[in-house]
Amino acid sequence: MSAPQEPTQEQVSELKNKYTLAAQDQVFTFWDSLSSEEKASLYQQLSLFDPTYINTITAKALAPPADDGDAKLEPLPGSARASILDSKPEDIDRWYQSGLELIAQNKVAVVLMAGGQGTRLGSSAPKGCFDIGLPSHKSLFQIQAERIRKVEELAAAKSGAGKVTVPWYVMTSGPTRGPTEKYFQENNYFGLQSENVVIFEQGVLPCITNDGKIILESKSKVAVAPDGNGGIYNALVESKVLDDMKKRGIEHIHAYCVDNCLVKVADPVFIGFSADKNVDIATKVVRKRNATESVGLILSKNGKPDVVEYSEIDPKVAAEEDPDQPGVLRFRAANIVNHYYSFRFLESIPEWAKSLPHHVARKKIPYADLESGENVKPAKPNGIKLEQFVFDVFPMLELSKFACMEVRREDEFSPLKNAAGTGEDDPDTSKRDITEQGKRWLEAAGATVAGEGGVEVSPLLSYGGEGLEKYSGQKIDAPSLLQ
Ligand code: UTP
Repeated sequence: MSAPQEPTQEQVSELKNKYTLAAQDQVFTFWDSLSSEEKASLYQQLSLFDPTYINTITAKALAPPADDGDAKLEPLPGSARASILDSKPEDIDRWYQSGLELIAQNKVAVVLMAGGQGTRLGSSAPKGCFDIGLPSHKSLFQIQAERIRKVEELAAAKSGAGKVTVPWYVMTSGPTRGPTEKYFQENNYFGLQSENVVIFEQGVLPCITNDGKIILESKSKVAVAPDGNGGIYNALVESKVLDDMKKRGIEHIHAYCVDNCLVKVADPVFIGFSADKNVDIATKVVRKRNATESVGLILSKNGKPDVVEYSEIDPKVAAEEDPDQPGVLRFRAANIVNHYYSFRFLESIPEWAKSLPHHVARKKIPYADLESGENVKPAKPNGIKLEQFVFDVFPMLELSKFACMEVRREDEFSPLKNAAGTGEDDPDTSKRDITEQGKRWLEAAGATVAGEGGVEVSPLLSYGGEGLEKYSGQKIDAPSLLQ
């Protein structure tokens, strides 16, 4: 890419005018002191935003509609729910077989949300590159890539079809795109074909002070942040991912978060279940551990599918038992941001993407002091990032077009959020959950596992516990790696 050209006097005054009219002209505070190159890059950055639109979404985010305390909350109707914990084995097998068939027909794609900055984890590399300390030292990206390879192989074997492809669309953001691309190239796309790994980029929005002003990170740069995981919708359109899917004949999409080390990428059961229900969106959920666990819940709010935060539910209601299942919470469907979309639904994004709300995240945002020009790293949150949430789209659907599948937490959900040593959702819990799962799979296949530390089973050996019969009767010393 060639370096941006310094804008003409006329171009600058036109842009300045726009920002002045929106009372955001503080972004030009240091203009006269900038070098020609700095002017060019600031001009380019500012041209990307419409300051009046930024003012509008900021005002809306800062004053969201008051929560209507009378909202009618109900669990999703039984017809829209299934649970791996208590579905009939023949139903699960039917979904598995039909999902695998759809994969074999090259109708299934995967979208990964990997645009977050992973601030809590504190690693400078994208989260997907993180080594959680497995015996193999595989990163999250590698584990996920190998699960895709394995599911392609299982589908090809089942159908007798030749090569099966599950394209992988990896959403990055300004900060994560470059290092993600480099990491995939250096590792030869972990055995996938590079043309089937499409790395694209979500949008960014300026960071804002608590009183609504766009923040300068330095004299010549606006502080920006990715527009939240809900930025996926605009990005799918603007990066032409949907066009690519259409060309490939994709009909079913699995979307998930990079930090879940147990994610069953392109899970045939989930694809088969969602296609069978003929829904536009389905979500996987895990069972809420107890009435006070702080998780978002998937439910019906005023007759529409929705996610309601733990804090928004009356504690008495949160503690209610399911009348049909004593001992089990009535509201128990914990959101793990693991979704199915029909392609026909994603094609409608341009009709509604602009109406998705923005939410406020209060953060510490490094800034240039407007008086002294000095760069400051604040110790406390000093401003806001504007984010869209991927699940804000749910209420746009009728309940009949939405479904929810409960899965086992120990088999499907272990997010990497925090730095090592935190004891919760950190690299050690990720490693433990993968190796404990490997141990369970082997024991179910008739092996004995001795010692501590579990067993890492390579995704290339087994996608979900299948194909391990050859270990029956064997003793495996943990910790170990089977590949
Ligand atoms: P989180 O909200 O947990 O954010 O993202 P994070 O960036 O991983 O971590 P923190 O909060 O900074 O510590 C949940 C999922 O949504 C993706 C993340 O990459 C992760 O897979 N995400 C988040 C995006 O793709 N884009 C965003 O703008 C934000």
